[in-house]
Amino acid sequence: MPHNPLVILGSGYTARFLWPLVADRSPKVFATSRAPEQHLSHVPPAQRLRFDLSQPDTWGDIPRDADLLWCFPAAPLDLVRQFAATPTDSPRRLVVLGSTSAYDLGDSQAYPPPWIDETTPIDLSKPRVQGEEYLRREHGAIVLRVAGIYGPGRNPLDWIGTGRVKASRKYVNLIHVEDLAAICLATLERGTPGEAYNVSDGTPHTWDDICETMKGPDARGSADRTEQGETGKRIAATKFLRDVGLQLAHADLYRSLRELESQKG
Ligand SMILES: NC(=O)c1ccc[n+]([C@@H]2O[C@H](COP(=O)([O-])OP(=O)(O)OC[C@H]3O[C@@H](n4cnc5c(N)ncnc54)[C@H](OP(=O)(O)O)[C@@H]3O)[C@@H](O)[C@H]2O)c1
Repeated sequence: MPHNPLVILGSGYTARFLWPLVADRSPKVFATSRAPEQHLSHVPPAQRLRFDLSQPDTWGDIPRDADLLWCFPAAPLDLVRQFAATPTDSPRRLVVLGSTSAYDLGDSQAYPPPWIDETTPIDLSKPRVQGEEYLRREHGAIVLRVAGIYGPGRNPLDWIGTGRVKASRKYVNLIHVEDLAAICLATLERGTPGEAYNVSDGTPHTWDDICETMKGPDARGSADRTEQGETGKRIAATKFLRDVGLQLAHADLYRSLRELESQKG
């Protein structure tokens, strides 16, 4: 299938896993960074672009006929608007990585928390949500509301080990970075412009369950903790699988966590 050029805007963790999937794509793929020499050593020099949303003089190098995969928070709104208004040769496909933090649950203490699908209200006071919704409504962007990203170098068991998270009844939704990279490409090719899709592995877990399964029953939170505290969210990710479709390689969180553990030196 013939493609437009593709530009990956913002080449951090996810983009690094995307690059091997698209590097040979024709006609051409580019990756951007605010500091290409330091951050794009994995990208051939001819495919590196300097791009900083806060510096409009860096916007001109983005090819006018390119599709865009936007991999950093789409904020602030005024700059997002200005950038989106730069001339293009034809309507481009635009995929924006958002976050499930867009969903506003208010003060609800329901437990387990209700399932959240794409019709659940979002928090438009958040700058990145304003940018994402502007791009979706006015420019046909496809917004992926992404759960917690994990994978090599981002191991949720390390977050527990370092105290960043604790065993608790709180629900967490995760997506392996390799699946997210494949989802980004599938969305570019088959996603419906103007839609939002939740992205997770489809199975919310409590931190208690993750701790107990991976570290044994003693790692579970105390009884007190299981009756109060944050509830977290339960993200429903069926719309993506139904409308775009993809077989996830890492649907089984525990198997993937064991793989990450076994890869540690
Ligand atoms: N991490 C998570 O668990 C999680 C969960 C849900 C959603 N998300 C969202 O998913 C997306 C991808 O996540 P990620 O962890 O792969 O991101 P990441 O590692 O932070 O990579 C994004 C890259 O974009 C570039 N960038 C940042 N601000 C920019 C700006 N103003 N203008 C131009 N480039 C800019 C930075 O690279 P340079 O410094 O090289 O320019 C940064 O490394 C992000 O939008 C993130 O917020 C993340």
